[in-house]
Amino acid sequence: MSILGISAGFHDAAAAVVDHHGDILFAGHSERYSKHKNDEHFCTGLIDDIKQYSDNIDRIAYYERPWLKQLRNWRSGQGFDWHRVTAGQVMRHQLGSNFKNVPIQCFNHHLSHAAAGFQTSPYSKATVVVIDAIGEFDTVSIWGAEYDSRRQAHYKRLWRQTYPHSVGMFYSSVTKHVGLRPMDEEYILMGMAAYGNSKETTKKMRLDLLDNEWEVKFKENLHTGLAVKYLSDHTEFDIAAGAQDMAEDLILNIMVRARKFNWSENLVYMGGVALNCAANARIGNYFDNVWIMPNPGDAGSSLGAAALAHGGRLNWTNAFLGHDIPGPYPVNAILDELVSHRIVGVANGRAEYGPRALGNRSLLADPRGPDIKNQVNGIKRRQQFRPFAPVILEELADMYFDMPRGFPNSRYMQCIARCRHPELFPAVIHADGTSRVQTVPRDGSGIRQLLEKWYVMTGCPMLLNTSLNIRGEPMVNDRADADRFETLYGVKVCS
Ligand SMILES: [Fe+2]
Repeated sequence: MSILGISAGFHDAAAAVVDHHGDILFAGHSERYSKHKNDEHFCTGLIDDIKQYSDNIDRIAYYERPWLKQLRNWRSGQGFDWHRVTAGQVMRHQLGSNFKNVPIQCFNHHLSHAAAGFQTSPYSKATVVVIDAIGEFDTVSIWGAEYDSRRQAHYKRLWRQTYPHSVGMFYSSVTKHVGLRPMDEEYILMGMAAYGNSKETTKKMRLDLLDNEWEVKFKENLHTGLAVKYLSDHTEFDIAAGAQDMAEDLILNIMVRARKFNWSENLVYMGGVALNCAANARIGNYFDNVWIMPNPGDAGSSLGAAALAHGGRLNWTNAFLGHDIPGPYPVNAILDELVSHRIVGVANGRAEYGPRALGNRSLLADPRGPDIKNQVNGIKRRQQFRPFAPVILEELADMYFDMPRGFPNSRYMQCIARCRHPELFPAVIHADGTSRVQTVPRDGSGIRQLLEKWYVMTGCPMLLNTSLNIRGEPMVNDRADADRFETLYGVKVCS
């Protein structure tokens, strides 16, 4: 008997299957199967995998309340879709005739975010902060979370802000304003910020857009975007830097407010804004311990909804929860390619749940020397300014990176850290001297075995790690995708 958690119908459709012991049997994204980035619909491949991992789904948990969402759409002038008012309608649309007659339970959007974080965290009690673009109405929420004597999770909402006042919507509106795709390419805006000067743009944005910084209130509804010519006398990089600065200040204000409730020194931070790893590096100043589940956006709420239906703690081990490419991790084959060609792909084991490639669907490279960044950029065909991430043996991370407070490790690339030797590893260092670090503990994983052998061979404890994907497509999912990658780019992908 298992619970199927679903997040779908808006963007990034995803599913999670949890059994009654709290084990996470499967969690994956529709886009990886359909090859449509941010696909909002379920697809056949995803449904097949769900059935493979559990043939006895007895409950469906949906990550938000459809009728409340329609009400908000109607109030904000976006129309009212009578065909998506009930969970049954939404499920028929997404699942077709699959899982017919399985009872459906809906949960509050921000509560699903909170549960995806708290019930996968190592904490028994935590302050939970959720910041996203928008749920049904909530845009920011702060919760006190704890388990009772029967080990059931309980949540008390301590504060909230509502539509249209939204940090995430502000950031997405600037993303759109500089010509990027909102709800997808916010991470590129964050990368651009390091190249800009924020002095003028932050000041102007604060004056023009902010009504009350402490309350997170804006002067206008940014859902419809910024005026076409807004800040047109500044570069896109300066606009990005201004947006990043203002967003960080707002996020830190929310963290200060959350801390003042004195609920717990453990912070669970969720919502799409929690993917902003530059801002995350500063939140450890307010809480002793920080947990950000590696899929904090709406897709991760498929697991959150399943967690709420389950009620208790989930048995979280790692983010490798998706489609399986079976077989032992090809450590020696990867090392051979690294030595001979310096760049190699890997597609092995369970795919990552969340937006980051963590070693099972990765393009890896030797991070040393000045030329490797251009070589990898040549394969990825992406903007030259965007940095790559390092993946490093966790016990050696401190020797190479100045890890921020609250993050003694960063197992899912949740934060940036200043590099202590930027001249040695230019391919994984951003313009501001930081890296988005992934630390790997002694967990016996494939990527851990690879790093250990690489370190013995070379004395270098890290590799460059970027997602294995064909340009314009989501991350590689199965071996057929890996074969296409090999053919297109002439880079070997080990399985
Ligand atoms: Fe959300």
